[in-house]
Amino acid sequence: MIEIRELTKVYPATGANPAVKALDQISLHIETGDIFGIIGLSGAGKSTLIRCINLLEKPTSGEILVDGLDISRLNSRQLRAFRSRFGMVFQDYNLYMQRTVAQNIAFPLVINGMPAAERNIRVEELLALVGLQDKAAAYPAQLSGGQKQRVSIARALATHPEFLLCDEPTSALDSLTTTSILSLLKDINAKLNVSIIIITHEPSVVRRICSNMAVLSENRILEHGPVADLVQNSKSELTRQLLNLSEVVDDTII
Ligand SMILES: Nc1ncnc2c1ncn2[C@@H]1O[C@H](COP(=O)(O)OP(=O)(O)OP(=O)(O)O)[C@@H](O)[C@H]1O
Ligand SMILES: [Mg+2]
Repeated sequence: MIEIRELTKVYPATGANPAVKALDQISLHIETGDIFGIIGLSGAGKSTLIRCINLLEKPTSGEILVDGLDISRLNSRQLRAFRSRFGMVFQDYNLYMQRTVAQNIAFPLVINGMPAAERNIRVEELLALVGLQDKAAAYPAQLSGGQKQRVSIARALATHPEFLLCDEPTSALDSLTTTSILSLLKDINAKLNVSIIIITHEPSVVRRICSNMAVLSENRILEHGPVADLVQNSKSELTRQLLNLSEVVDDTII
């Protein structure tokens, strides 16, 4: 379980730019095995929040406990082990354009010093998981957006992380491709028991795959809870807008 207690993040002032309080006293818990959605308007602090969870950003104050472990107290050796518990997926894929699909997926394994024979077996497994066995030798420029995101997901899972942090993973994709990526994420959660935290601005993404969610508004938590409860009884107009509650969403699509 991830327990966030009164987390505040201030980006310090630089030159003419004033300091920005990107997160203000955020408290939240995310259960192991969950698919947890984070929604909010642009600039609300969503990316900052997930970057604090895997310590890509250092919190200014507050605590983050992962399975009871206070992550601010990790030494550098523990921090490396801690980071390998997380995989990250981004809207723009962040693939290495000069490397093939197989080399992209193998990259974290190379960094971890896995021997080539073992690595090749793992890459084959991951290619099969994301349905790209026939693209091992292709370069990212030769792939569609959905295929690139599959490579990025396979790479994020290479080291068997417990948590997959996804920052707008479907925002650059059309609706059918979004559906196929969401169904892949759902499978990964169910079959590999990977907990997923997903930032999105698409109401249908939250409503299709998340069980719990939080709404961020201007660096604070506006509301959080089971998606079904917020769909039924949200007290906030912003939540209702972000969940697009006036629109009928076909929940049976995946
Ligand atoms: N590295 C940084 N240095 C200074 N300020 C930053 C930095 N990163 C983000 N911010 C500021 O912190 C606030 C929250 O940014 P963040 O990227 O977390 O928002 P977001 O909810 O992910 O927005 P979006 O939906 O547009 O991706 C914004 O005001 C942003 O300008
Ligand atoms: Mg963001």
